[in-house]
Amino acid sequence: MCLPVFSQARPFASSLFPVAHTFSIDLAERSYPITIAAGLLSNPATYATLPKAAVALIVTNTTVAPLYADALRAALALNYAQVHLVALPDGEEHKNWQTLNLIFDALLRHGCDRKTVLFALGGGVIGDMTGFAAASYMRGVPFVQVPTTLLAQVDSSVGGKTAINHPLGKNMIGAFYQPQLVVCDLATLDTLPKRELSAGLAEIIKYGPIADMDFMVWLEDHMDDLLARDRTALAHAVRRSCEIKAWVVGQDEREAGLRAILNFGHTFGHAIEAGMGYGAWLHGEGVGAGMVMAAELSCRMGLVDDAFVARLKVLVQRAGLPLRGAVLDAADNAGRYLELMRVDKKAEAGEIRFVLIDGPGRACVRAAPDALVREVIDACCAG
Ligand code: NAD
Ligand code: GLY
Repeated sequence: MCLPVFSQARPFASSLFPVAHTFSIDLAERSYPITIAAGLLSNPATYATLPKAAVALIVTNTTVAPLYADALRAALALNYAQVHLVALPDGEEHKNWQTLNLIFDALLRHGCDRKTVLFALGGGVIGDMTGFAAASYMRGVPFVQVPTTLLAQVDSSVGGKTAINHPLGKNMIGAFYQPQLVVCDLATLDTLPKRELSAGLAEIIKYGPIADMDFMVWLEDHMDDLLARDRTALAHAVRRSCEIKAWVVGQDEREAGLRAILNFGHTFGHAIEAGMGYGAWLHGEGVGAGMVMAAELSCRMGLVDDAFVARLKVLVQRAGLPLRGAVLDAADNAGRYLELMRVDKKAEAGEIRFVLIDGPGRACVRAAPDALVREVIDACCAG
């Protein structure tokens, strides 16, 4: 059955803006501001409205720490008597129990109490793990997202999904736990490797087909500007993505229905990530190829036409993302995909449910016959 339609009609009027923009994600007592501009991270005023506490813990990784930890520490020093830092090993392959435990070690070693505020400084891996640590340390302490990748700014820092991976399934262990504030400092994107920029573009592109065809047209017109890191274009893309995500999460915080559309491309993509070994493919790369596969499946189910799939492929390719899925290390590639996809959180009683495009700008969640899914995998995988 299709979810309620969310598309064509835009949830917010959106316009280009040159500098700062702050808006709220509407979740009653769990509402919080998302603020977007260059230079926010190092400005103490950014954090002025946070709950008062004596101690802050910055959670980051060994790549991001040398770039931004000193600036964040200096900004926080005006609001917190003690600012501690823990730098985790970098990479999706470290998004696990062992690394999560390093955050708990630091919290306990520094005698952190339940007012301690955690700051997630980094990409989605750091954001997801810090959020999960915040959800569980002393049964819940406040945390702030300071996303420094494009992917984290447009998706993972917003909406309160926190998790670690399990060898058998991506993001399978976690909690819904909302931050107090999201600080998207566009200046941090200057140091992002090109491959990571492309990975972030995947999560931006997804908002068009599922929700906002005007945004898809804008992306078609401005993809080159985004790749060139034009600040104005990036600001608009981050803002519009966060607006759409906030609108969806505001209606369905715990993914009872509508929120699943944000997983367009993810069912195939997660299978690639887990099947190839975490870290081999970037999350956004899996989503890029996964969106093409999901669109192809939508087409074979009669929901969209070939022209739409072709249009999406052009955008994915222009973003520098893989168009074709990975061939997994198995005698039966499609069978291995199916096996991995049955572990997906949307699966029900072993039946895989896909986010499909139900006409441009509209998404639905449906099961599909295994034979058809096999056809799509065979047609869409490299090799
Ligand atoms: P990531 O966190 O691994 O960061 C990518 C790389 O960029 C890392 O090597 C990191 O150290 C480096 N980096 C970060 N900021 C940098 C900067 N400013 N300059 C230079 N290097 C920088 O990957 P990601 O793409 O940000 O996030 C992917 C993760 O997010 C996945 O684990 C995925 O499951 C998760 N995710 C979660 C949600 C959610 O709703 N919670 C949504 C989408 C994705
Ligand atoms: N990234 C999907 C979600 O937040 O629901």
